Amino acid sequence: LIQPVVLSGGSGTRLWPLSREKYPKQLLSLTGEDSLLQATLRRFEGVAGIDSAPPMVVCNEEYRFVVAEQLRLIGKQGSIVLEPVGRNTAPALTLAALAAQSGGGDPVLLVMPADHVVAQPAVFQESVCHAARLAQDGAIVTFGITPDRPETGYGYIQTGASVDEGGACFIARFVEKPDLRTAEGYVQAGDYFWNSGLFVLRASVWLKALALCRPDILTACAAAWKNGESDLSFLRVGAEAFAACPGDSIDYAVMERLAGAQAVAGLPPGVVVPLSAGWSDVGSWDALWQILPKDGDGNVAQGPTLMQDSSNTLALSSGRLLACVGLQGMVVVETPDAVLVVDQRHTQSVKKIVDRLKRDG
Ligand code: GDD
Ligand code: MG
Repeated sequence: LIQPVVLSGGSGTRLWPLSREKYPKQLLSLTGEDSLLQATLRRFEGVAGIDSAPPMVVCNEEYRFVVAEQLRLIGKQGSIVLEPVGRNTAPALTLAALAAQSGGGDPVLLVMPADHVVAQPAVFQESVCHAARLAQDGAIVTFGITPDRPETGYGYIQTGASVDEGGACFIARFVEKPDLRTAEGYVQAGDYFWNSGLFVLRASVWLKALALCRPDILTACAAAWKNGESDLSFLRVGAEAFAACPGDSIDYAVMERLAGAQAVAGLPPGVVVPLSAGWSDVGSWDALWQILPKDGDGNVAQGPTLMQDSSNTLALSSGRLLACVGLQGMVVVETPDAVLVVDQRHTQSVKKIVDRLKRDG
């Protein structure tokens, strides 16, 4: 039995001004009719040979009605674990693991970020089956993407000894978000994958790993879970106990400690399964431009737009006429109260604008 767990917590600051605190990117329909969250929930439909439990979505309290409505619209019944505050992915997964075990079993969790795009779901499902078999035996399994640039917003996985005929390898080293020079070295070395941010592991395996690496997070989450209550499909946790939980990501809290210099003794084996299913994390405007269908000049234009002598440009208008003249490799996004104009080479820095807006009010 597989338990799909969708982490739907980040606010997607690099996709500002479309993505807002009140309406983060996973709830937007960026690439089709479905929102990224809905596409994530459907990606797992009908995997051959695997029984899957109704999905579990972990999200902030604030989005509970939108999330419930988006599930309803695609005919999914699942549980929604509500976080009173965001504490990053390690606590979010811990709540999911505790919820999954509350039924008495110890299911294999398929942990999926809500904001990724996978162009070939059938290939994805095959890799999931492969990973689930390894996870059943107690491994912490992640999916590796062959890197094509020294992206600094990702985790890097160095492959070690081979695990099976299917291309799975032990994780020799996991480095979360290295600096540019280090990332360049990894891409050149050729034995590194990007971490896709998807994980497959048993609930008990995660809890055991966390007990070894971050007992403080486990203790806080267990207390929050104990003080929680369920109300229809919503599972609430104790607000005070969860607020006291330290924040950390799965990657820093556990993955970096599976092997290599920071290895912690007694952890379950880390295994990476290669994934070539057209994965993209839609983390920034240029990533979105990459995956959307383009016209002959490489432009993507949505809404009332006029493109003149422009190429490789993403132009999105929510209402006003947007005219682009002589632009190359640009992103222009119009919304009712904010307009973004950014060079595609600088789309990672949009986050800095959001930070400034937050700081200065
Ligand atoms: N429920 C919940 N609560 N979900 C959260 C929280 C939280 O507090 N924080 C983040 N998430 C969700 C986000 O919505 C996203 O779907 C996923 O967890 C990953 O969080 P990000 O903040 O997007 O992580 P990242 O992109 O910086 O890095 C991760 O993903 C990369 C690939 O996209 C890491 O796993 C990297 O190693 C990886 O390469
Ligand atoms: Mg991300």
